[in-house]
Amino acid sequence: MKTTITQVPAYEGQVVTIGAWLANKRSSGKIAFLQLRDGTGFIQGVVAKSDVTEDVFQLAKNMTQESSMYISGTIVEDKRSPFGYEMQVSDIQLIQEAVDYPITPKEHGTEFLMDHRHLWLRSSRQHAIMKIRNEIIRATYQFFNDQGYVKVDPPILTGSSAEGTTELFHTQYFDEEAYLSQSGQLYMEAAAMAFGKVFSFGPTFRAEKSKTRRHLIEFWMIEPEMAFVDHEESLEIQEQYVSFVIQSVLENCQLELDTLGRDTSKLEAIKAPFPRISYDDAIALLKDKGFTDIEWGEDFGAPHETAIAESFEKPVFITNYPAAIKAFYMKPDPARPEVVLCADLIAPEGYGEVIGGSQRIDDLTLMEQRYEEHNLSGPAYKWYLELRQYGSVPHSGFGLGLERTVAWIAGVDHVRETIPFPRLLNRLYP
Ligand code: 4AD
Ligand code: MG
Repeated sequence: MKTTITQVPAYEGQVVTIGAWLANKRSSGKIAFLQLRDGTGFIQGVVAKSDVTEDVFQLAKNMTQESSMYISGTIVEDKRSPFGYEMQVSDIQLIQEAVDYPITPKEHGTEFLMDHRHLWLRSSRQHAIMKIRNEIIRATYQFFNDQGYVKVDPPILTGSSAEGTTELFHTQYFDEEAYLSQSGQLYMEAAAMAFGKVFSFGPTFRAEKSKTRRHLIEFWMIEPEMAFVDHEESLEIQEQYVSFVIQSVLENCQLELDTLGRDTSKLEAIKAPFPRISYDDAIALLKDKGFTDIEWGEDFGAPHETAIAESFEKPVFITNYPAAIKAFYMKPDPARPEVVLCADLIAPEGYGEVIGGSQRIDDLTLMEQRYEEHNLSGPAYKWYLELRQYGSVPHSGFGLGLERTVAWIAGVDHVRETIPFPRLLNRLYP
């Protein structure tokens, strides 16, 4: 019976065949222990000299790392392994012998591993991170589908900029200039006026010269947009969504979290509601914490965000930033127009901003005024104004950065390990 590693619990006591690679190996005299992986999981294969032919035993003993095979044997329970089962091997058919696999079980430098990312993805740590990423994606679709959202796909090639013009990738679009999308938001606003509640999930691009553990040049963003939803209501959706994702990972990725050594007690506490702190109060808090020269009107950097997050167990919303340091489309607070109805969600444990969101300007005249102030002109932006002309309604939305969320939940230091093939300031390979 041909099966996969994650399916073997159903075959306890039976002989099965698995297509696998050799991850690691140990042998002594009459026995060899093969650490096998097949993509779905990891299992130990025990090859006893007395159970197999001499050829098979020699093959097992001399097998090189990452060689591929079909391996057959009886599935037995093994209380000592985290997976709970092992295989008592009866036969091995080698598919290909791998010679000099470059990533050995010893320590390697990060640059070396990044150069071999196409192979590094096979390691148990990278495997665990990608499985958690996959679970976050799955839970995202479940959450928004269950709540009646429609998935809408905004374009990647665009003629307009959503998040400021300095971080755009320019490209030629026949005889026009185009950009790679920084955010699908503007298009999602159009979609919300057509479908009510929508979300997108796609790649976004920022030509940012930032070389930090939180920045990627290409990253994936989940962008919900809701008609007839104000800022406060949007915050409730955000905390519900993030809580749901965390609880889903805790439920479905226990093995992966174990592999990564993640302290899950910190995640178990992440349940809605989340605390909120205004930008004004955040400034005061920072001054208290020793950032004496920060002034009202300045944006927060990573050290500021980390210091603010330290005061809370759960993620914290920093709300109502000064209009001058936020995007052109954010709605001013009617009671205090120098600040906008927005929030950044800051993850605990120093993982930084995972969500940026706001209520959007719905008034045509005010939006036209913002266009002037931000030098947004030309046909590329005309359609966005028309959304305020024909049945404009209050609406809000947000963007959650997938890789920063994976880094936080998986407890990984740098976002480069949270996406299969990271695009970084100095890296387009592999
Ligand atoms: O705060 P940002 O720039 O917001 C927007 O793009 C809005 N248009 C979203 C919306 O309202 N629909 O980006 C949102 C999130 C950030 O909080 C962060 O998690 C992630 O995207 N992000 C990045 N992740 C990795 N590398 C980068 N360079 C990132 N820039 C933003
Ligand atoms: Mg932001």
